[in-house]
Amino acid sequence: MEKYIINGGNKLYGSVKIQAAKNSVLPILAATVLTDGEVKILNVPQISDVKNMINILTCLGCKAVYENDSIKIDSSSADCFEIPSALAHELRSSVFLLGSVISRFHRAKIAYPGGCDIGLRPVDLHLTGLKRLGVEITEKNGYIMCKCDKLCGNEIMLDCPSVGATENIILAAVKAEGTTVIKNAAREPEIEDLQRFLNCIGAKVSGAGSGTVIVEGVKLLGGCEFLPIPDRIEAGTFLIAAAMCGGRVAVEGACPENISSLLHKLRENGCKININNDKIILENDRRLSSVKTIETQPYPGFPTDLQAQMTALCGLCGGHSIVTENLFETRFKYVPELRKMGADITVIDRNAFVRGVEKYKGAAVVACDLRGGAALVLAGLAAEGRSEVLDISHIDRGYGSFEYKLRNLGADIVRVSV
Ligand code: EPZ
Repeated sequence: MEKYIINGGNKLYGSVKIQAAKNSVLPILAATVLTDGEVKILNVPQISDVKNMINILTCLGCKAVYENDSIKIDSSSADCFEIPSALAHELRSSVFLLGSVISRFHRAKIAYPGGCDIGLRPVDLHLTGLKRLGVEITEKNGYIMCKCDKLCGNEIMLDCPSVGATENIILAAVKAEGTTVIKNAAREPEIEDLQRFLNCIGAKVSGAGSGTVIVEGVKLLGGCEFLPIPDRIEAGTFLIAAAMCGGRVAVEGACPENISSLLHKLRENGCKININNDKIILENDRRLSSVKTIETQPYPGFPTDLQAQMTALCGLCGGHSIVTENLFETRFKYVPELRKMGADITVIDRNAFVRGVEKYKGAAVVACDLRGGAALVLAGLAAEGRSEVLDISHIDRGYGSFEYKLRNLGADIVRVSV
């Protein structure tokens, strides 16, 4: 196990380059199973979710090779439709493989997916959508078993705009007979990126980002070299770090329009933000004022993946805020750890009632999920004195070179083995 040791209080200055979006790269890796063509994905972050997804692809018989910050995938020799439970439990995105494995083999067997412990995280919308395409599904002993004679296009209405269900159904529909229309589809930028990738290898997908996605089935797919969009959550995390610590940070290679809801809130806090194409510069040299409410919503609303980081910021602002988590049932598990640092936050159901304090004080805290762990690091950077953040394997799932990037900005943070 490893931990971070942080000596807080340093302001942050400099620039940080944003990695490719974890939540784009993962469904794109799942999509490579659909084609025999060689795919090269660029600027891929060295994070454990990507490594685990590559392990799963290798188990399916795909050839996957890391080359610096790119990955080359060749699925022409894929010959297995069963995803090992130990690997499936490692990450939520294993469930995306259902769609692409069924499309390739007309069979699939996968254990229920893992991922952050932030709520119930059912897969009912994934399975209902796949059944609409002609898949027979049985769930037994913790496994989801699927089979079909063929996949047929259909109209699917999602009860809620689930990112994963939208992506899984798109993957299953790419080579189905006929056309599939997905209504009430998620609008996240990562879904538009998946559409862009699939069309690069010869699929016919349209409408991503609009709420209605149309997939015309095709027979053959090829290969391509692909640069995914930058990680809007990594970009937002560094901007919030700068707001909490003070200083001047330029986030480079970002997509400002993909985090406009965050930028709006940070400006409301009193941060000075300048945008120059793919560079976002945040300056802050004083105590920020609180924002009344933060409500997480499906895109383009405030992203749930920045909820923890924003709550940590609100905890240092003058005034009161109410943070409401509308997507996941238990996404405030980091709050008791933040309270050890002096935060004044009370959680009732889906609401966190935040009263801003002058300063956090360093403490030993434990990361319990990816984004909650990142929030604890940001709090340690802003706190007075020494902090330790334990169980940082959660953070390694989604942030590549996290401590190196923070140290380059002037933070005093080191990773040590426990
Ligand atoms: C994706 O998770 C992301 N993960 C999550 O990021 C992100 O928080 C989430 O979308 C929302 O934006 C990846 O892309 C790998 P959902 P996913 O299906 O697909 C309900 C991170 O930190 N739902 O959009 O699992 C569900 O309970 C991770 O990077 C059903 O009811 O999210 C939730 O309330 C954490 N039935 C809501 O939809 C289903 O079948 C949104 O979940 C599926 C989902």
